[in-house]
Amino acid sequence: MGVTRIGHVALRVMDIAASVNHYTKVVGMDVTHRDSDGTTYLKCWDEWDKYSVVLKPSDRAQLDHIAYKVENDADLDVLGKRVADAGVAVSKHAAGELTFCGRSISFMLPSGQRMYLFAQKDFLGKDVGVMNPDPWPDSRHGIGAHWLDHCLILGELNPEKGINRVADCHDFLKGALDFRLTEQGMVGPNHSVMAAAFLTRTVKPHDIAIVGAPTNGFHHLSFFLDGWHDILHAGDILSKNRVKIELLPSRHGITRGETIYFFDPNGIRNETFGGLGYAAHPDMPVITWVEEEMARGIFYTAREWVDSFSSAYTAV
Ligand SMILES: [Fe+2]
Repeated sequence: MGVTRIGHVALRVMDIAASVNHYTKVVGMDVTHRDSDGTTYLKCWDEWDKYSVVLKPSDRAQLDHIAYKVENDADLDVLGKRVADAGVAVSKHAAGELTFCGRSISFMLPSGQRMYLFAQKDFLGKDVGVMNPDPWPDSRHGIGAHWLDHCLILGELNPEKGINRVADCHDFLKGALDFRLTEQGMVGPNHSVMAAAFLTRTVKPHDIAIVGAPTNGFHHLSFFLDGWHDILHAGDILSKNRVKIELLPSRHGITRGETIYFFDPNGIRNETFGGLGYAAHPDMPVITWVEEEMARGIFYTAREWVDSFSSAYTAV
């Protein structure tokens, strides 16, 4: 019971045509529906639900919401009560309010992002089907992302004022929604301040991450690839399409993921994330990274801090 995985990320974008072109031609997703106002729904070839990314036309680049799927419809009642008991206001939405989904609930995370929980979304199936499937479809294109893997959100961190939305969000996700902490970044006196938290509901190293920042925000959405060769191939696709790359093919110390950071046409950060890193079983001990080793934790290969990583992010 409970949260099973990430469901989708909904983004407000300024140039819908350029954005759709990026997520289809570059990332390798397919459009599965368009609303009359231009709102566009996309899925990856290895996903089965109708969409994992929503692009909404807007006059600004902004996170609209993140959504996670729960196992059973009844979980929405159980988790909704636990969220309310944690002192967080819960909105209930009838089937269809979250497009192509059954009933849902939503609430604001302590770090200011709206999170939806839903149990059912229209089913399309993987492009390779389920009957004696090939390992990948002939329709694979661009980077050929398998699936939306995780997102990283930002929480205001100002210890002098006693504000730590990273710790608040960690406590909430763990306490109300049963996420498990896999890795943490600790800063300040005696490394006592939680500045980063990586949490999972599966055996992946993370299904969501929260990192400290001057203000709440949205950092990136990440797409899964098999491994290092696919990451390098993704770099080729990005360069062919003149996409702005922030971090060249590299490895994270945290999660051990192989990675590239790049930006969509709205300046919203994307990641391609290769490999499953390790199996984060429920009894796995929590991994800790301290402030002095944080550059190595995030940018393991170069061990040098990339300034834009902590200064360029999307409003919520
Ligand atoms: Fe990531």
